[in-house]
Amino acid sequence: MSFGKLKSASLPRIQAPSGDWNCHLYKNLNMKLSTKLIHAGTEPDPSTGAIMTPIYQTSTYVQEAPGQNKGYEYARSQNPTRKALEDALAVIENASYGLAFSSGVAATDAVIKLLNPGDEVIAASDMYGGTYRLFTKIFEKYGIVFHYVNMQDANNIIPYINNNTRLIWTETPTNPLINISDIAEIAGIARERKILVCVDNTFASPYLQNPLDLGADIVLHSSTKYLGGHSDVIQGGLMMNDVALRDQLYFIQKSCGAVPGPMDCFLVLRGIKTLHVRMERHCENGEKIANWLRNHPKVGKVYWCGFEDHPGYAVAKKQMRGFGGMMSFTLKEDSMEATMKLLSATKLFALAESLGGVESLINHPATMTHASIPREDRIKNGLSDSLIRLSVGIEDVDDLIEDLEQAIG
Ligand SMILES: Cc1ncc(COP(=O)(O)O)c(C=O)c1O
Repeated sequence: MSFGKLKSASLPRIQAPSGDWNCHLYKNLNMKLSTKLIHAGTEPDPSTGAIMTPIYQTSTYVQEAPGQNKGYEYARSQNPTRKALEDALAVIENASYGLAFSSGVAATDAVIKLLNPGDEVIAASDMYGGTYRLFTKIFEKYGIVFHYVNMQDANNIIPYINNNTRLIWTETPTNPLINISDIAEIAGIARERKILVCVDNTFASPYLQNPLDLGADIVLHSSTKYLGGHSDVIQGGLMMNDVALRDQLYFIQKSCGAVPGPMDCFLVLRGIKTLHVRMERHCENGEKIANWLRNHPKVGKVYWCGFEDHPGYAVAKKQMRGFGGMMSFTLKEDSMEATMKLLSATKLFALAESLGGVESLINHPATMTHASIPREDRIKNGLSDSLIRLSVGIEDVDDLIEDLEQAIG
């Protein structure tokens, strides 16, 4: 008996991915969101009964004979820890399928790789700077055409639609100006013209918003943010309902290879289990801080979609279950000097890129997360040099306010 046969025969059966990719089972179960978040994708490990999904730290799987395997051949194509996470991703976005990628940007990259040279994309004019960089600096040179449109009014999209339009890319709320676009309206415009809609749902998280339920075709998450929730992992996710779309994206995932390692999958899987309790606190703290900032005599404009006079408030109220902990603001003294002074003065709010972790972060989009957008375009879209972005964490809100108070002075 060969080593392979001996080893393979003694291995316990693990849940194979073949024929079991979809999550209709979970979808049809009438579980509330909090329950889904804890149980999505995870089952006790069949080999030991371990309640937590093991980290299958392996690159390959022993086969009984060529082509005879337990559904796992090579870890770029399949990994049981990743499979559990991908099932969970599907469940929490009310999707049929989920796919995990090595970063949010890698997930974006996979979606654009669905397209061919000459295809056109209508994208939101205010979005994460790295998405803009990927579109302009990488994909434009392969002949994909991008139009950047203010999507706060979905009708702005219509003049840009032509026979080559394949994809509408939106982000809501946007990073960093917290603009809101109406997902159902955009999806309505796209559906009758057979154009795909992808929504970057990173800022809202599945706890606050589910774009597939509103008619989108693909949801994207930088799982680095609220899904992971602890600033300890870089990862991305895509969720969709259409099997043909899932198959194409799986093919891209496997062929281009931007897959996350099993340890990182485990971390996101664990993060998802507490998403609801974290998000509740992010929303609670976010509301208090946004209102406090708005009443501060030295603060200029506060961008937070929970204000009743926010231009996207009605849409946010309709399509979201809360307003989140992301916000931006300017100082009345609208100078770089005052902005820089404040950014260096906070003690609890750490000056760092990223968002969505349990700890509060402060960020300067113009020089940090959105530095790759040309200044002229940034300013045109309302992203001023002095804009400050906050990712409000889940610390005690009084301590956070005290920190901002001493920093603003
Ligand atoms: C809204 C949004 N989408 C996508 C990304 C990219 O995600 P990642 O950093 O995981 O590649 C980010 C990162 O900040 C983001 O804020």
